[in-house]
Amino acid sequence: MVELYLNGRHYKVDVEEDTPLLWVIREHIGLTGTKFGCGKGICGACTVLVEENPTRSCITPVGSVKGKRIITIEGIPSYHPVKRAWIELDVPQCGYCQPGQIVEAYALLNKNPRASKEEIISVMSSHLCRCGTYGRILKAIQRAQK
Ligand code: FES
Repeated sequence: MVELYLNGRHYKVDVEEDTPLLWVIREHIGLTGTKFGCGKGICGACTVLVEENPTRSCITPVGSVKGKRIITIEGIPSYHPVKRAWIELDVPQCGYCQPGQIVEAYALLNKNPRASKEEIISVMSSHLCRCGTYGRILKAIQRAQK
């Protein structure tokens, strides 16, 4: 049994401690906004926040985040400037990678609200988008800064 604190709620899940956090979030808790992409910590689709830090949930054993504050895409309010900018600029194409992108952008602006264009590109370059929405992602983050 593992106890988690996720999006402001407590959960008890009956899994082994080495189960990937992503599986627990999607299959046991039922929040499917966080996506499975590569499963190897490379693409960023599975990104969630653990104690404010972007974390690849596909390679994170659930036992390592017991009692830590976890936020998924569902835990970021729809009125937050990052989500609003994403909608206003119609950022997603297929949409699959976008939850991870938004979580990363949210964390970036929380830590560094005045991040420069170069800093934004540097941080966001760890996320892959097969549709190539990178330009709109940059514009959305810059809009959210205003
Ligand atoms: Fe976790 Fe790609 S699915 S980084």
